[in-house]
Amino acid sequence: QEVHAAEMERTFIAIKPDGVQRGLIAEIISRFERKGFKLVAIKLIKPSKEFAQKHYHDLKERPFFNGLCDFLSSGPVLAMVWEGEGVVTYGRKLIGATDPQKSEPGTIRGDLAVVVGRNIIHGSDGPETAKDEVNLWFKPEELVSYTSNAEKWIY
Ligand code: PPS
Repeated sequence: QEVHAAEMERTFIAIKPDGVQRGLIAEIISRFERKGFKLVAIKLIKPSKEFAQKHYHDLKERPFFNGLCDFLSSGPVLAMVWEGEGVVTYGRKLIGATDPQKSEPGTIRGDLAVVVGRNIIHGSDGPETAKDEVNLWFKPEELVSYTSNAEKWIY
């Protein structure tokens, strides 16, 4: 089945400072790769507090907002864009529930994290949020369009 890259859904995924510091980058990337999703952008950056506040703007009324923004800006973050059919929703499934005490074993947070304030990874929660977050973190020219050889065996 022929599926063109331009039509493919994209999501924003970030490995937070705890995931980077704990050496979980390869482990996490491999789960998205093995599923059959395609990496179309990636960079390691240390976001400023102001940038973190922009990223989490929807949560500014929450009691944990300030701590969450301090945390995101506390060290390098691996920012990525992944592409594939259903990648927004299924990406969240791979990640698991927000609170690692409630995420199922087999999910990233279920297998690798213990508390909500250190839950190692972020994924966009819907298609609109995904577009906004991709645009916030990446310039258009940082997104790479290409055909992977595996695609014809995945779709
Ligand atoms: S929502 O709006 O209810 O769906 O929010 P939720 O998905 O549960 O969480 C949104 C982000 O806030 C983080 N979070 C917390 N951080 C610190 N302490 C507490 N108690 C807490 N509760 C939620 C949660 O990890 C989400 O961040 P990301 O980076 O998207 O995972």
